[in-house]
Amino acid sequence: MALQPCRRDVILSVFLTCMVSIFLCDGALGDCMPNQQNGNGSLHFLPPDKECCQELECELYHDKPLCISCQAENFCSVAWSKDGSIDYPFNLDDQLILTEEDTVINFSVQTDSQDFTGIYSCTVSNGTYSINKTFHVTLVEDIPYTGAPIEEETANCSKQQVGLGQNATFYCKFCAESKTKELEFSWWKNEGEESEEKKWVLVDNLNISGTTYTSVDVFNPVEKGSTQKLCAGSSLIIQNITTGAYGQYKVVALIPSTNQSSEKYSPSLTPVPGPSDVTLTILVAIFGTFVLVLLVAVLWQAVHLEVKLFIKDRFGDIEEKGQRSHDAFIAYDSSSEEDRAFVLEFIRPKLMQNNYAVYVKDIDTNVGTSLAEEVLEAMEVSLRCIILVSSSFISSRLMGLQVNAAEDQMSEQKMKVIPILFGDVDEKKLKRVEGLSRLMSVLRCIRYKEGKTSKSKFIKRLLLRMPTQSKKGPVKDMLLHPTNDTTLLTPHVDT
Ligand SMILES: *[C@@H]1O[C@H](CO)[C@@H](O)[C@H](O)[C@H]1NC(C)=O
Ligand SMILES: *[C@@H]1O[C@H](CO)[C@@H](O)[C@H](O)[C@H]1NC(C)=O
Ligand SMILES: *[C@@H]1O[C@H](CO)[C@@H](O)[C@H](O)[C@H]1NC(C)=O
Ligand SMILES: *[C@@H]1O[C@H](CO)[C@@H](O)[C@H](O)[C@H]1NC(C)=O
Ligand SMILES: *[C@@H]1O[C@H](CO)[C@@H](O)[C@H](O)[C@H]1NC(C)=O
Ligand SMILES: *[C@@H]1O[C@H](CO)[C@@H](O)[C@H](O)[C@H]1NC(C)=O
Ligand SMILES: *[C@@H]1O[C@H](CO)[C@@H](O)[C@H](O)[C@H]1NC(C)=O
Ligand SMILES: *[C@@H]1O[C@H](CO)[C@@H](O)[C@H](O)[C@H]1NC(C)=O
Ligand SMILES: *[C@@H]1O[C@H](CO)[C@@H](O)[C@H](O)[C@H]1NC(C)=O
Repeated sequence: MALQPCRRDVILSVFLTCMVSIFLCDGALGDCMPNQQNGNGSLHFLPPDKECCQELECELYHDKPLCISCQAENFCSVAWSKDGSIDYPFNLDDQLILTEEDTVINFSVQTDSQDFTGIYSCTVSNGTYSINKTFHVTLVEDIPYTGAPIEEETANCSKQQVGLGQNATFYCKFCAESKTKELEFSWWKNEGEESEEKKWVLVDNLNISGTTYTSVDVFNPVEKGSTQKLCAGSSLIIQNITTGAYGQYKVVALIPSTNQSSEKYSPSLTPVPGPSDVTLTILVAIFGTFVLVLLVAVLWQAVHLEVKLFIKDRFGDIEEKGQRSHDAFIAYDSSSEEDRAFVLEFIRPKLMQNNYAVYVKDIDTNVGTSLAEEVLEAMEVSLRCIILVSSSFISSRLMGLQVNAAEDQMSEQKMKVIPILFGDVDEKKLKRVEGLSRLMSVLRCIRYKEGKTSKSKFIKRLLLRMPTQSKKGPVKDMLLHPTNDTTLLTPHVDT
C-alpha cells in the first residue's frame, strides 16, 4: 500500500502536465515533433520543384497547370490560409489539391479560374518554431481566340475506298488556341443527288439499314510549356458499310461561345471496284458489242441494196451512150410461157419504171424483118444485155445466136452482159453449152427462183448492174418500135 499515494501523485502530475500543455499550446502551431532530423536539424523551406511557381508572385493561366510549394525540412505540421482565412475549402472538386504532405497546392486547368486568385500563406512548424511563406496568385487573361477553328491535316480526313460490309473511320482535327476546349463537332452526309444541290443530313438522323455511325471527340491537352498547338479531333466510325453509306461527308467544328465554325468537305466513301464488277463490265461490253454488230449486220442486210443503188445513182459514172439508143436488151426464150411472162410482165415494166429504155424481142421487133438481124442490131444499140438463163433457154434455137452476139459485143467492150439464172437450171446441161458457160464463169449472175427470191431484192440487184441514170426525163420506150405506151403490150406472135 506504500506505493498507492505515490502512484496517485504520478497520475495527478501527468494529468496536470497535460492540462498545462493543452492550455499552453492552444491556438499555437506545432504541438508535434519532427519525425527525424536532417542535417543540423534546423527548420527551413526547400526550393520548390521545378514545375512549381519559383517566386512568390505566381501567374495562373487558363490552359496551364500551376502549383505552389511550401516543401520544408525538419517540420511536423503545415497550415494554409487563403486571403487570411484558414477555412478555405482546399481539395475542392479536384481543382485545388493539397499534395506532398500538404506542402504543395496543385491548381488544375480551369474554365473559370477567377475564384482561385488571391493570397495563399503557409505556416510550417517543428513544434517549437514556425516559418511562413506567402504567394500572390494572379490570373493572366490570355487574349481570347476569336477566329474560326483551323483544320489540321490528318491522314484519315479524306476520301476512302471501302468495300461493302467493311468498317471505315474518318478522323479530322481542328485547332482553335484557347477555344479548342470548347470545340463541338458534328458529322453530316450529303443525301442530294449527284447533280443536284447538296442536301446535308446529320449522320445521327440518317436511316441507312445495316450501317451504324458512331462519333468520338478527342481533346488532348498539351504538356505545360510545350509549343504544340492546342487541337481537338473527332472520329466518325462507320460500321457495316452498305450502298447507302457511300457518298460525300463533312465535319463541322463549332466554337459555341463565338459562334465561329469551320467545315471540312473532303471525307467521302467510295466503293472498292471488286473483281466481280470488272468481269461483269467486260461481259456486258462483249455482249453489247455482239448485239451491236448483229444489229448493224441485220440493218446492212436490209438496206445495203438501197445504199448501193443510191451511191450508184448519185456518184456512178454516166456511160456515154453514143450510138446506142437502148439501155438494155433482154434475151430470153420466148417460147417458154414462164420466161416470157417474167420478162414482159415483170423485168421490162420495172426497168421502164426506172426510166430505162429496154428492148424486148417479142414486142420490139418489127414484123417482116429477120429476127436474127434485129436481135443483132438490138444488141449493138444496147448498153446492157440481160440474158434470162432458164432450162428452156438453154435448149432454145435462138440461144446460140444471142449468146455469141453478146460475147462478141462484150469482148469489144461495147456492152455489159447481165446473166439471170431463172428457176431451176441444170448445171450439167449449162456446162455443156459452150459460149454460155464461158460467159457465166466470168460474170456474176443474178439468181431468181419463184417463191424463194424476194422480187424487190432481185430488181434492186438488177438495177445495180444497169447504167447510171443521167438526170433526164422519162425515156422513150424503144427506137425500133416507137410508142409512148409504157403499159404491157400484147406479145407479137413469133414468126
Ligand atoms: C543549419 O543548416 C542550415 C542550412 O542547412 C543553415 O542555413 C543554418 O545556418 C544552420 N544552422 C546552424 C545552427 O548551423
Ligand atoms: C525548431 O527549429 C529551430 C530553428 O531551426 C531550432 O532551433 C529548434 O531546435 C527546433 N526544435 C525542434 C524540436 O527540433
Ligand atoms: C501536382 O502537380 C505536380 C506538378 O505539376 C505533379 O507532378 C503532381 O502529380 C500533381 N499532383 C496531383 C495530385 O495532381
Ligand atoms: C510570418 O513570419 C513573420 C516573420 O518572419 C512574422 O512577422 C509574421 O507574423 C508571420 N505571419 C504569420 C501569418 O504567421
Ligand atoms: C487512319 O486509317 C488507318 C487505316 O484506315 C488506320 O489504321 C488508322 O488507325 C487511322 N487513324 C486514325 C487517327 O483514325
Ligand atoms: C466492324 O466493326 C465491328 C465492331 O467493332 C466488328 O465486329 C466487325 O468485325 C468489323 N468489321 C470488319 C469487316 O472489320
Ligand atoms: C428507318 O427506315 C425504316 C424503313 O425504311 C423504318 O421502318 C424505320 O422506322 C426508320 N427509322 C427511323 C428512325 O426513321
Ligand atoms: C450489315 O448490313 C446488312 C445489310 O443491311 C445486314 O443484312 C447485316 O445484318 C448487317 N450486319 C451487321 C453486323 O450489322
Ligand atoms: C451563328 O452563326 C450562324 C451563321 O453562321 C447563324 O445562322 C446563327 O444564327 C448564329 N447563332 C448565334 C447563336 O449567333
